[in-house]
Amino acid sequence: MKVRAVVLEGIGDICLRDIEVPGTLEPADNEVRIAIKTVGICGSDVHYYKHGRIGDFVVNEPMVLGHEAAGVVTAVGAKVAQLKVGDRVCMEPGIPDFGSQETLAGHYNLDPSVRFWATPPIHGCLTPEVVHPAALTYKLPDNVSFAEGAMVEPLAIGVYAAAKAKIEPGDVAVVAGAGTIGMMIAFSALAAGCSEVIVSDMAKAKLDLIADRPGIVTVDLNHQKLTDVVAAHTAGRGADVFFEASGSPHAFDNMMDVIRPAGRAVLVGMPQDRAPLDVVALEVKEVTVTGIFRYANVWDRTLALLGSGKIDLKPMISGSYPFDESVAAFERAAQQNPSDVKIQITF
Ligand SMILES: NC(=O)c1ccc[n+]([C@@H]2O[C@H](COP(=O)([O-])OP(=O)(O)OC[C@H]3O[C@@H](n4cnc5c(N)ncnc54)[C@H](O)[C@@H]3O)[C@@H](O)[C@H]2O)c1
Ligand SMILES: [Zn+2]
Repeated sequence: MKVRAVVLEGIGDICLRDIEVPGTLEPADNEVRIAIKTVGICGSDVHYYKHGRIGDFVVNEPMVLGHEAAGVVTAVGAKVAQLKVGDRVCMEPGIPDFGSQETLAGHYNLDPSVRFWATPPIHGCLTPEVVHPAALTYKLPDNVSFAEGAMVEPLAIGVYAAAKAKIEPGDVAVVAGAGTIGMMIAFSALAAGCSEVIVSDMAKAKLDLIADRPGIVTVDLNHQKLTDVVAAHTAGRGADVFFEASGSPHAFDNMMDVIRPAGRAVLVGMPQDRAPLDVVALEVKEVTVTGIFRYANVWDRTLALLGSGKIDLKPMISGSYPFDESVAAFERAAQQNPSDVKIQITF
């Protein structure tokens, strides 16, 4: 079928045009059709735009961008009971094989055949209508806007990271990196029960956006050392949990120095090159290290958290452009203005 969409043609080349994509707008039995209302531009969309690849995922053919979306249900398949026409929803963008071994084992995000929007060769959702599995389509609470609904995707990464960290009430956490992902992790770690979350970055404009939230301590790496601040806040013992959310290999330089004995580390940032891990320090402190890949089984709780009002994402939405101005939206996102967090496109 032919759809109008935001298409990445190649490195540095995006346009809004009609494109032939597989599929139909008629939902199958367990699918719904959604009229898209808001799509957020992700760091990965910008990375494909600028570099044409992320690791082994290479854009070889024109690809529709976008995976952070909210909209309204416009048709439901014959076997869909939990959603109806008119429901306001957001969509989990990775479609696994529902019968695969990894899906059946509970971690469908690790299914090697998962088809994730705007991860080549799979087209994304920057197009007026999509058809999606009902099981991966979630109703928005009435008090959650489409703009916030389109933020559930990055927030789910934070919620999943916090869950993997097994946070206990009163824990002190460190987050390296105050980009979108670092912010989402910091908010989720606080919601999970941390007493303090120490967030480091060298981009002061980013830190300023979150500095006045109760429980957040910001560390401007231009003027302060992370090790000093963590020591001051933990009586020299180290933090219970460390989250790597910068993607910089330098974040590993003092990672083991800021984690307490028997602490935990959750690695979320994806360094372009191999990152150095101090194995002996890890052993001597018996630090538990885990990585995460996107999320699994957390979208419902992420929406519940957003609906509860415990996390306010509205200040993180820095700019909004109509669909017709999508190319301008991408140009703005690609500038990576330090005071911008999320740029969105609306329909
Ligand atoms: N594991 C996953 O499933 C997953 C999902 C989404 C994103 N990611 C990764 O998470 C990382 C962050 O994503 P983002 O969209 O927030 O990126 P971003 O570029 O917006 O944010 C990264 C931030 O880290 C800061 N930074 C750089 N070096 C630092 C250092 N040494 N210490 C502290 N801060 C430093 C930068 O100034 C920037 O503000 C990326 O590497 C991305 O690929 C992983
Ligand atoms: Zn994203």
